[in-house]
Amino acid sequence: MKVDVLLGLQWGDEGKGKVVDVLTPNYDVVTRFQGGPNAGHTLEFNGEKYVLRSIPSGIFQGNNVNVIGNGVVLDPALFKAEAEAEALAASGHDLTAKLYISKKAHLILPTHRLLDAAYEASKGDAKVGTTGKGIGPTYTDKVSRNGLRVGDILHNFEQKYAEAIAKHERILKSLNYAYDLSALEKEWFEGIEYIKKFKLIDSEHFINAQLRAGKRVLAEGAQGTMLDIDFGSYPFVTSSNTICAGACTGLGIAPNKIGEVYGIFKAYCTRVGSGPFPTELFDDYGDTICTLGNEFGSVTGRKRRCGWIDLVALKYAIMINGVTQLIMMKSDVLDFFDNIRACVAYEVNGEIIDYFPYEINDDIVPVYVELAGWKTPMNKMKSESEFPQEFTAYLNFLEKELEVPIKIVSLGPDREQTILR
Ligand code: GDP
Ligand code: IMO
Ligand code: MG
Repeated sequence: MKVDVLLGLQWGDEGKGKVVDVLTPNYDVVTRFQGGPNAGHTLEFNGEKYVLRSIPSGIFQGNNVNVIGNGVVLDPALFKAEAEAEALAASGHDLTAKLYISKKAHLILPTHRLLDAAYEASKGDAKVGTTGKGIGPTYTDKVSRNGLRVGDILHNFEQKYAEAIAKHERILKSLNYAYDLSALEKEWFEGIEYIKKFKLIDSEHFINAQLRAGKRVLAEGAQGTMLDIDFGSYPFVTSSNTICAGACTGLGIAPNKIGEVYGIFKAYCTRVGSGPFPTELFDDYGDTICTLGNEFGSVTGRKRRCGWIDLVALKYAIMINGVTQLIMMKSDVLDFFDNIRACVAYEVNGEIIDYFPYEINDDIVPVYVELAGWKTPMNKMKSESEFPQEFTAYLNFLEKELEVPIKIVSLGPDREQTILR
């Protein structure tokens, strides 16, 4: 068996959580491979809404196992809060029975959160607009070989922790950053005790053994391709490889063990935080998309910037990830538009280009094609046969441009509002 991977093709918040939940009954194992509580994955079913940050979105259905892989960075305090959240508890799942955590996943220390804030403050207007969850500093420590891993909590942890914190405090002082660590530490150590209740595994052995046993594994990406540390709009990116290759390093599976690659995108485009966004709208269209799409961050509540769909960026993401199937989300937000636009090329200094360039800046002018809107509410539709003609034309146009079939169309936030093609 192979691992199927589902990942975002834009700047995150494409609707990954919803679709992983929809696909979960087809899988025995659902796993996260990168990112951490910077993610906010929303699921809606039976009139309830849940937001997951570190826990895979396969947790609510069936008898599957969910794994937090080695590529993830885990904040014990936020993890405990998430896992104990009333919503999760009320749904009646014994989490410790169906959620395993990799011993190789790195721990977000309380000082990583402080460092995140201190670095952002020191950047002034050039700030990344991070989620403030300590993601960058934690991955920095991982790469510079100073990190602490989940497996470390089992042996001589206090000393390792004290050494790491002392280093961080020296940096915080050099940045003149005022902080109060004691309050953060209390809930953090409660989180450490909580993590000990879970099965801590070598996830690479576990996942490969599952594949050999014929089990079906789904890897759930966080963030999106345009936030990838290597291929996103650097430095306005997150600190992990959000792309398909990240599933190999973040789980310990070989490249030839990757199966289907589901690429998920919104029928328009959003971005939260700073950084270039060629198709961003500053007019009524942008405001309307934001309002109808309820485009506010699931984690930070920040208003998401909105724009038209960008096929130049999407083609780039499809190429980098080797996408085999596309999933289109939130087209219902455009249900009442007379016309919709799609960016098919960029004009840079008078030259038209159709590839995603190194320099992404204000010099880029999007080249649009305009398509007729369908002006029909679609959120109650149950099958493709009900699609308005203009909507089918939009799908056909996208498939022709992107050269990958759109296999799932989502017409609302609820699990049921999903059409498989
Ligand atoms: P993720 O981070 O990729 O899991 O996405 P988020 O959960 O951060 O953001 C997606 C938002 O859109 C959530 O509020 C979802 O409930 C909502 N959503 C998902 N699919 C659809 C859809 O097809 N239509 C509408 N209107 N909302 C959707
Ligand atoms: P999901 O999984 C949207 C953005 C932040 C910031 C940049 C770096 O829900 O799609 P970080 O805290 O990672 O150092 O922030 O990345 N960002 C996201 N934007 N969705 C996310 O996750 C994001 N995770 C990080 O806004 O611009
Ligand atoms: Mg999100």
